[in-house]
Amino acid sequence: MPLRPFALERYFAKYEFATRFLLCSSDPESVTTRELLDLEPGAQERFLNHWLGYTESTGSPTLRAEAGKLYTTIDPAEILCFAGAEEGIYWFMHASLLSDDHIIVHAPCYQSHTEVARAIGTQVTEWRARAENNWQLDVDELRRLIQPNTRMILINTPHNPTGALMSSADFAAVNAIAQEHGIVLFSDEVFREFEHDPADRLAAACDVNPTAVSLGVLSKTYGLAGLRIGWIATHNQRIRERMASLKDYTTICNSAPSEFLAEVALRHRAVLAGRALQIVRGNLTLLDDFFVRHAGLFSWVRPIASAMAFPKLHVGLIEAYADALARESGVLLLPGSVFGDSNNHFRLGFGRKNMPEALGALEQFIAHHKLT
Ligand SMILES: Cc1ncc(COP(=O)(O)O)c(C=O)c1O
Repeated sequence: MPLRPFALERYFAKYEFATRFLLCSSDPESVTTRELLDLEPGAQERFLNHWLGYTESTGSPTLRAEAGKLYTTIDPAEILCFAGAEEGIYWFMHASLLSDDHIIVHAPCYQSHTEVARAIGTQVTEWRARAENNWQLDVDELRRLIQPNTRMILINTPHNPTGALMSSADFAAVNAIAQEHGIVLFSDEVFREFEHDPADRLAAACDVNPTAVSLGVLSKTYGLAGLRIGWIATHNQRIRERMASLKDYTTICNSAPSEFLAEVALRHRAVLAGRALQIVRGNLTLLDDFFVRHAGLFSWVRPIASAMAFPKLHVGLIEAYADALARESGVLLLPGSVFGDSNNHFRLGFGRKNMPEALGALEQFIAHHKLT
């Protein structure tokens, strides 16, 4: 089956660089190359002298060593780098799945979590988080969804698009269920370290589950999407080696300048995540007031991680609303339908410095249209 168009990316392709205010991004404010290099004395000079030949296909050893510090049990040799998290998802699916397999995927979800498997011919069952349950998953439901041919459970926590975070009890239960049934857990942790309260941080799946695969990236918590550096971390040698050999058919190795910058970023990841969290905390206080003022028009489950929420529009249809808002006021919201949601939710992103202005433009739009 051919890969279907990626609805979210097609939506962004239409609006992202033509709309003034992105009020729906999952990534926070980024920095310039200079700002990043300024975090480390001497880094600018070393960057200018960095060699531009092919790099090691698995990722440079020093980059993998830095990425390994995100985990408690992972050796640098158990990290495999990719061009963003997206390439990691793509090759994980191809390394692990066949057409007569079945997988269970945390939904609503980033489309590649289901789509790549569907293109392989794999049967996909969505395990849905629900707004009325604060976007939490029901672990008993997971037990009921397992079939004899279930090969993989995919979770994404902190979660895109809701900003929800699984409880540590549920996370432990999911890991136990996967191990009990011999099912590989693929844990998309691209928003890890973006918990609003660091006490809520979960362990990485690869540290608590010997066959689980954790997915990380510099794009989200650390605001460096343009580097296109992601990785998987896992003790699961079979999957790691299979993914490494498949990578030869796409990027072969990462971009050398990006590897250098990614390594600097990981050494200073606490500073980068701290900056993002500071913006998020300020913007959340504005959003708290906004949702009180417009309680008739919108409702939300206040997120506890990341720079995203998944509120609901109570009047009209979100697709038409978002289109009019983008055209008339230059403010971009992301209709939930791109995540397969049909309940008038939309993704709201509040990790950018200009969010107060964007919210102001949204309020003017609301006032002009005399909505509640
Ligand atoms: C949950 C999730 N996983 C993976 C990705 C892909 O990340 P990247 O753009 O760094 O490849 C995204 C991007 O939005 C995401 O939200």
